[in-house]
Amino acid sequence: MTEQSSALDNLLTESRTFPPSEEFAAKANAGAELYSEADADRETFWAKQAERLHWDTKWTQVLDWSNAPFAKWFVSGKLNVAYNCVDRHVESGHGDQVAIHWVGEPGDTRDITYAELKREVSKAANALLSLGVGAHDRVAIQLQMVPEAIVAMLACARIGALHSVVFGGFSPTALRSRVDDAQAKVVITSDGQYRRGKAAPMKANVDQALDGAESVEKVIVVRRTGDDVPWTEGRDLWWHELVDGQSEDHKPEAFDSEHPLYILYTSGTTGKPKGILHTSGGYLTQAAYTHHYVFDHKPGEDVYWCTADIGWVTGHSYIVYGPLANRVTQVVYEGTPNTPHEGRHWEIVQKYKVSIYYTAPTLIRTFMKWGKDIPAKYDLSSLRVLGSVGEPINPEAWVWYRENVGANATPVVDTWWQTETGAIMISPLPGVTEAKPGSAQRPLPGISAKVVDDKADEVGKGGGGYLVLDKPWPSMLRGIWGDDERYRETYWSRFADKGFYFAGDGAKYDNDGDIWLLGRVDDVMNVSGHRISTTEVESALVSHPTVAEAAVVGASDPTTGQGIVAFVILRGDAVDGGEEAVQELRNHVAKEIGPIAKPRQIMVVPELPKTRSGKIMRRLLRDVAENREVGDVTTLADSSVMDLISSGLQSGK
Ligand code: WTA
Repeated sequence: MTEQSSALDNLLTESRTFPPSEEFAAKANAGAELYSEADADRETFWAKQAERLHWDTKWTQVLDWSNAPFAKWFVSGKLNVAYNCVDRHVESGHGDQVAIHWVGEPGDTRDITYAELKREVSKAANALLSLGVGAHDRVAIQLQMVPEAIVAMLACARIGALHSVVFGGFSPTALRSRVDDAQAKVVITSDGQYRRGKAAPMKANVDQALDGAESVEKVIVVRRTGDDVPWTEGRDLWWHELVDGQSEDHKPEAFDSEHPLYILYTSGTTGKPKGILHTSGGYLTQAAYTHHYVFDHKPGEDVYWCTADIGWVTGHSYIVYGPLANRVTQVVYEGTPNTPHEGRHWEIVQKYKVSIYYTAPTLIRTFMKWGKDIPAKYDLSSLRVLGSVGEPINPEAWVWYRENVGANATPVVDTWWQTETGAIMISPLPGVTEAKPGSAQRPLPGISAKVVDDKADEVGKGGGGYLVLDKPWPSMLRGIWGDDERYRETYWSRFADKGFYFAGDGAKYDNDGDIWLLGRVDDVMNVSGHRISTTEVESALVSHPTVAEAAVVGASDPTTGQGIVAFVILRGDAVDGGEEAVQELRNHVAKEIGPIAKPRQIMVVPELPKTRSGKIMRRLLRDVAENREVGDVTTLADSSVMDLISSGLQSGK
């Protein structure tokens, strides 16, 4: 952890603090007593939070942890997740409230009220039922940010089917492995998507992915760009032809609190993505609870915008489930932040009077690069809470965000969580916490986290180590799809004696006991807030015929947090390691995984640094990638390797 410690020493020289204004604190949803209330009795506290939802049958027990690490929350309770996110708001007289202000990249817009959302979700639920999709079936969704994406997710939830949303930027190979792993019966996609002003095909990629996929019976295609698409008679159906004519009546069935809600694949330390499984009652409780308090959301008053894509967990918990359960009015934007110009987000904030804005550090740093003149051109006075998620936020970016987007006045909440945790775990509360730029600070009320050393002992103030979650929480993952053993092994084996969940992140306490997150301690990279495993990129590289061996590291990058740097040894007969060969390899990775996994840099080297047991020493490669002096090489099997690598690079080979 030496590199991380030095990064942290820099961070800890940061001593600015930003308390909430008295005015904000006076009206805030959360006061300081929320912590003491939760500490007094955690289960009673969570039971109270679960009352935010409508339960058809009340639970008999808050938590059953007897079969740890497989939790059951709100045991024997029954509810319908989609009813909670949609119907009940219509029934309580808010049918005319806008749920979604949708903004298409080319500039087309659509406002969808809760009444309309209810009709659309009901029709889509009936459509899925008409295709024979039922409770426990899996539906894969690869869609860009169009309203149908949200409607499709809620329609699955409504009938008890599991969705598995696959990010639109993933390659056909990546989609296929997810469809196969979940044995999806139906795939929902679109003809194409607008990206940076151009229409790019989606359906054609999906067809490529599904060639020979035996589980898939139907493919539903949303029409967006209007471009021609390849068509498989008998399998493919247009969304508008299938859904529009369905009945608007659908009675939501109440499912068990532990009924599976969705699978979302995320990168682990091996090449094979993990299907993270989330269930219903506990997940929705914590998603709604955190959205209410962390963003200080006030239904009917606030306009909320989370800029994530539904392909990631942030889109699941903070566009779909948490916000809609809380009767949000939210912006959903289809496109990229600089199309057609770099002020696009601020133009949207101004137009819809967005009051809560939640984004990722990588985008904040991009905004910084574009310059403060751009947000300054717009009226951003509606904003009152800003949020950040996905990677550690550096204090400069935090302060820039507050000054230039938040008028030097709004609270900024740095929220730490993971696909696995399902909802926010560590974060300031905007009306309570004296914020420190760069620190996520404290576990939320009801949540328990610790920083521990190798032996699972908690470190003291000023100490660093591993972040663990030492008590179960309602929205925790319930396992890895089809692989209970991998679930135990990945998260629960490291600190098995104490029964701690190992998050995979390094962290440190400052002298006040606040938590600072330091990034991953495993072989997972974080590029623009996206998790990509080094092994996944390595296997993509070695699947190319010219590559003999590959090692991949995440090197720090001023904009994307980390950038992917690959070291490859070419096969003996593939002598040409020139620019063209390197470009070809970058494209190969994009084809195998997706453009997000394209290495920033590929270095052709004669050897890789390995220990005597054959383990690649990524630490040394990271030194090279970050232009640092190479660290301790004494554990290398052959200590001259690093000289060979450095001299090869200097001579430009
Ligand atoms: C990182 C995204 C520091 C962390 C919700 C975690 C963060 C991984 C923060 C999960 C933050 C997320 N500060 N690091 N506020 N938020 N991370 O599953 O390394 O895509 O383990 O979930 O992102 O990424 P995931």
